[in-house]
Formats: sequence, C-alpha cells, structure tokens
Amino acid sequence: MTASPDDTPYDLTRYVRDVGALFDRGLDLEERVRLIAQCKRRLVNGGQALPARLNVPDPTAPYTRNLAHVDPAGRFVVIVLVWGAYQETTIHDHSNWCVVGVHAGTAHVTDYDRLDDESNPDAAELIVRGSSMAFTGAVLALLPPSRSNIHKMANASRAPMLSIHTYGDPGTRANVFHLKSGTREVMELKFHNVPEGVSAESVRLV
Ligand SMILES: [Fe+2]
Repeated sequence: MTASPDDTPYDLTRYVRDVGALFDRGLDLEERVRLIAQCKRRLVNGGQALPARLNVPDPTAPYTRNLAHVDPAGRFVVIVLVWGAYQETTIHDHSNWCVVGVHAGTAHVTDYDRLDDESNPDAAELIVRGSSMAFTGAVLALLPPSRSNIHKMANASRAPMLSIHTYGDPGTRANVFHLKSGTREVMELKFHNVPEGVSAESVRLV
C-alpha cells in the first residue's frame, strides 16, 4: 500500500511546504501568521525528531542558531535554536513577523515596553512588561510594529532546549537593547551551521 502525503509524519519538510502554500493564498499578514502558528503547533506537538544536523550546538555560541530553510522566494526563513543550560538571547525586537515553537524543553520569555519616542536611533528606555513560561509544544507569534514586540528568550532550566523560529525576514540582524545604559544598536546575527563564505540562500529543505 502506498502512503498518501497526509499519512507522512508532520515534519519540518511538510511544515515548510505548508508555510509556502499560505503565502500563495494572498492572506493578510495577521491571518497568515495565525495559520503559520497553527502549522507550527502541529510541528512541535508531532513528536518528530529534528534532523540531527540541526541539533548540533556550537560550544562557543551564547546560544546556537542553525539555519534550516530559506524560502526560494525570500518570503521566510526557518531557524532551529539549540539552547544549553540557562542560555539566553539579548533583548531585541523583530521588525517583521515571527512565529516561535518550543520543540523540546522550557523557555522563559521576558517582554518589555519601550518608553521613549524613538527620536534618538542610538537610545531606548525600556521597562519590563511581564514574563511567561513556554513549555514544550507552546507557540508564540509576534507581529510588527517592532516597539511592541521587544523581548528576551531564555532556556528556563539546565535541561537542553530546542525551539523552531520562522521569520518574515532573513533573520540576520536585530535591534539589540541595553537596559542599564539605555542604548540601542543594530547587531548582525550569524548561523552557526553555515560556514563563512557559504550563501545562506542555498540552505533549503524542499
Ligand atoms: Fe526574538
């Protein structure tokens, strides 16, 4: 008997196909992100292991960013983050949409409000809005404007954590905020599984 496509496990490859198909439907941003989050929920609750090459931590990194897929039309990227004990990101924002799913482990997310009027590009005054736990299978979606989605993500425990991030941009730069100095800077972000000189655009699952 031949398995139909729907009988195959809902893995990263199927997820990437579904996200691409959602772009083809001409949905507005909020509806598209809502449906991408649905697909992500299916992916991180499906019990499918990630390809081993994406689980590899870089011991020199504050947390490891492994690029899984670049959409050929440049509409989105999928990145696997590999987190050691209590590793955390900087405080940053997202200028485009973003859907995060916790594949294994527990995340702790801290959200910030921005108090200044953004008139000085090098400065930012933040206040903690709140924080939340995101357990295995949880999905978080962020939308622009960037001043409304400033946050920090961390592995909440010593246990390894894996999360899968889908971004509506190349995922290679972010605005980073420094609380005590009240400053903001643009930071370039690397993919730890893409060697220097290799084009990220060549990383494809489908
Ligand atoms: Fe983020």
